[in-house]
Amino acid sequence: MPLYHPSEEFVSQANVSGMDAYRALYERARDDPEGFWAELAEEHLDWFKKWDRVLDSSQAPFYKWFVGGRTNMTHNCLDRHCKTWRKNKAAIIWEGEPGDQRMLTYRELARLVERFANVLKNRGYKAGDRAIIYMPMIPELPVAMLACARLGITHSVVFGGFSAEALKTRILDLDAGAVITADGGWRRGKIVPLKPAVDEALADCPGVRNVVVYKRAGNEVELVAGRDHWWHDLNAGADDSCPAEELDSEHPLYVLYTSGTTGKPKGIVHATGGYQLQVSMAMRWVFDIKEEDTYWCAADIGWVTGHSYIVYGPLLAGATTVMYEGAPDFPGPDRFWRIVDKYKVNVFYTSPTAVRAFIRSGVEHPEKHDLSSLRLLGSVGEPINPSAWEWYYNVIGGGRCPIVDTWWQTETGSIMISPLPGATPLKPGSGAFPLPGVAADVVDGDGASVAPGSEGYLVVRKPWPSMFRTLWGDPDRFRQTYWSQIPGVYLVGDAARKDKDGYIWVLGRVDDVMNVSGHRLSTAELESSLVRHPSVAEAAVVGIPDELTGQAVAAFVTPKQGVEAGDDLAAELRGWVAKEIGKFARPKQIRFSDALPKTRSGKIMRRLLREIVTTQKVSGDITTLEDLSVIDRLAAGQSED
Ligand code: WT7
Repeated sequence: MPLYHPSEEFVSQANVSGMDAYRALYERARDDPEGFWAELAEEHLDWFKKWDRVLDSSQAPFYKWFVGGRTNMTHNCLDRHCKTWRKNKAAIIWEGEPGDQRMLTYRELARLVERFANVLKNRGYKAGDRAIIYMPMIPELPVAMLACARLGITHSVVFGGFSAEALKTRILDLDAGAVITADGGWRRGKIVPLKPAVDEALADCPGVRNVVVYKRAGNEVELVAGRDHWWHDLNAGADDSCPAEELDSEHPLYVLYTSGTTGKPKGIVHATGGYQLQVSMAMRWVFDIKEEDTYWCAADIGWVTGHSYIVYGPLLAGATTVMYEGAPDFPGPDRFWRIVDKYKVNVFYTSPTAVRAFIRSGVEHPEKHDLSSLRLLGSVGEPINPSAWEWYYNVIGGGRCPIVDTWWQTETGSIMISPLPGATPLKPGSGAFPLPGVAADVVDGDGASVAPGSEGYLVVRKPWPSMFRTLWGDPDRFRQTYWSQIPGVYLVGDAARKDKDGYIWVLGRVDDVMNVSGHRLSTAELESSLVRHPSVAEAAVVGIPDELTGQAVAAFVTPKQGVEAGDDLAAELRGWVAKEIGKFARPKQIRFSDALPKTRSGKIMRRLLREIVTTQKVSGDITTLEDLSVIDRLAAGQSED
């Protein structure tokens, strides 16, 4: 396998220059983690009050970082920069799908954030409250997040593709008191309304006292008197200045829901102090961020990638972050390259799914544009296949840009395993090495490191500053799911292999969680949605390999007695899942069968289902199967989306 070395030119300007520099950082962190992080926290962040202790492990796995310290995320993202020449630097360069643009300087962003913080304050919200944010990709989304952070209101951004039902579950789980939303946003030339889903969700959420609606798309919305307000009306009456609350380092900054192995999504809780430190360091080490860079993470802020690397990371770094509202292929498949060319983007971060879609649409699209401003590329969300890596490297990067394949999770908050672009020789498809301060390892079921070349479970042996602190309202599940199977060690949920050179290769999930287009979906969540449909007796869901989306959803459904199975029912079930979870979760394949393969103890054998959808037959061990004839009947009756 070829190794790709960074050019001398890249190495000489890099924030971490050469492997020796990486090793020195890594070893310093390993030998004295607390001293290492404390030094960086003093150097890279402001604190209203310094911490008393760097790490408190007394309640492990409920670790605390920078204990007793006081800080505010928005002070570090905004006020700090506004005291320097950066007040007139572009913080956010935004482009709407229809082609409209806005540029917000650090000072202007600070003004909007403070003003909107006053709106929330005037409505009675304060530190410790929770607000839901359900918005399109417009600048007011980061403004709303930062306004919450300024006051210590814990925010939870719900991806705009989620349905009313998913929104309701999250509002209720958090007992949120406010919803911040918009009339709608633009996607593929059409307005996607958001407000109707809020109205539907709120029918069952009496705790929400105020809904603030930003007017983006101009579609008709209904405002419920006393509860709903236009953003511009409330803003008009608010003051431009609102001091940052001096919050405890451990204050919960946000909760972000992600899928687990049960039907109930997990509320991942992130704290302030440690999160802002590790995200800042990733900007420096992984994205090699420079004052003059134009940086673009083409994710959605509804997922953790957008939280850490569109909003908080770049702003902490005082960088210029690009934000794009719409679809990558609108009005044509070259939209992203048009944006790179137009704003002369230097650092570009996207997902393998997006890269595969670009490959499919053809090289003529990137070739139409001047991409020579790019100096560094990133990948996140799922393993990137070496052929897609090579294409990304050569066609988009012109053979000149290192690719950082960044492994991390909603839970980890920040990038954990990644090449450093001015140091690490790259192997296409590998995330290479853990970042300084990250004790990642590949182990067997007892927690012992596996031999080079063998597969095992990916774990993190030591706490890290941006780690999630708990699951909202469910500390037992936090302990149980992540810290108990191999005691005292964080179990990631991915399989991995370390090669003879120590490079880590992440292979995919080991639990019943799928990864569709880099988004996590749980089989249990999908199955419980399907069986709630009145025509369904039983359902099982598996992930199948998909050329474009990495994995796709395949559902096996047993209809109730007397219900006719066929394309009509399949279409109805797809619509049902879209309504219950979101469009992105719709099953690609649905197969109807009169029974599902089960063990004698009644467990659905998903391994068999996976084999059936990928190879159309079963070759593995079926001796524990209760009814052998079910296998033959299963291969038939498929409906493709
Ligand atoms: C899961 C986390 C973190 C941002 C987006 C996803 C998979 C993520 C990589 C990568 C191989 C990756 C893992 C992980 N994953 N990045 N570079 N190589 N796999 O966040 O929804 O919390 O999903 O995504 O399976 O556990 P998430």
